[in-house]
Amino acid sequence: MAHRAPGTANLDWANLGFEFRQTRSHIKFVWKNGEWSEGELVADPYVKVHIANTGLHYGQAIFEGLKAFAWQDGSIRIFRPQENAKRLRMSAERLLMTAFPEDKFVEAVRRVVADNADYVPPFGTGGSLYIRPLLFGSGARIGLNPSDEYTLLIMPIPVGDYYKGGLSPVSALVIDDYDRAAPRGVGHVKVAGNYAADLLPNLLGKKKGYPIGLYLDAKTNSFVEEFSTSNFVAIDSSGAFVTPRSPTVLPSITNKSLMDLARDEGLAVQERAIPITEVKTLREVAACGTAVVVTPVNRIVYRDEVIKIGGEDGGTGPVTAKLYSRVRAIQQGEAEDKFSWTVKV
Ligand code: PLP
Ligand code: COI
Repeated sequence: MAHRAPGTANLDWANLGFEFRQTRSHIKFVWKNGEWSEGELVADPYVKVHIANTGLHYGQAIFEGLKAFAWQDGSIRIFRPQENAKRLRMSAERLLMTAFPEDKFVEAVRRVVADNADYVPPFGTGGSLYIRPLLFGSGARIGLNPSDEYTLLIMPIPVGDYYKGGLSPVSALVIDDYDRAAPRGVGHVKVAGNYAADLLPNLLGKKKGYPIGLYLDAKTNSFVEEFSTSNFVAIDSSGAFVTPRSPTVLPSITNKSLMDLARDEGLAVQERAIPITEVKTLREVAACGTAVVVTPVNRIVYRDEVIKIGGEDGGTGPVTAKLYSRVRAIQQGEAEDKFSWTVKV
């Protein structure tokens, strides 16, 4: 697909941060009368919706997050879009929404990225094009029933770091008085309401100086679950790569990739329960996700206890640094894509 050269839009690429920016277009699909529309590229960032849409009233709203990168040769690659297609379908099924066909999803992402190729941050700046698909019930229903119409919008947004400073460690606060996900609820799917529920605990943590909140399991309050917008990964006292196995954690595509890379590095990889009491014995801890990539965590505050990870200095641990640089290198075309994770636009 021929496209405009990455980085030719008029933006300050070195200072992007993680915030909304207007691009040329988003792509819009509507499911009505039993079929999906062909999709259209739309410039207007405002969406006109029916007053009684089920997305706003009853929270029939799900989203995804993935990234595209400019490579040194001028091409653009999307990181593992098939995985987002699958997770979007799983989220849709849980909320009784019409899923978007997985093969068409990848094609739709390619179309909208191609149209906005000049908004992809240029190679070497560390930025990327964050792609945010949003699917919601757009039909009018006032009794509690699933919608008879759905809208999928896929918007591209050029971004830099989510937490300022890239690989600089952050402090996390264990959220001990709120739960993220009920045992048989919707924690494992990417529904908008999960994020609304996190806003208050998140703000309370930020006010105390902690940019990132860590949730425990809702049933026993004793096992690590995940951060507000990312998974919890760690290197345990035996040197194994560990991450919580829990039915209420969002299955992170970044985490899945890190597990493959950790195995490739010869590490033992364990998806298992991680008691909060074990945290003080962990050698390294990081938050991982599309937006945060791999963010090292060097302090975890649990009730009155400050748990220092990686000793007094609490720098970025060696395994975290290694896995971060390996995933970034594959994303940006600086290392062989041996797992076939990237899709060319
Ligand atoms: N956990 C939560 C709650 C998230 O919102 C995200 C972000 O999507 C993740 C984990 C990381 O998932 P992924 O690596 O697929 O972006
Ligand atoms: C992502 O990492 O893509 C997310 O969805 C996190 C978002 C809530 C900022």
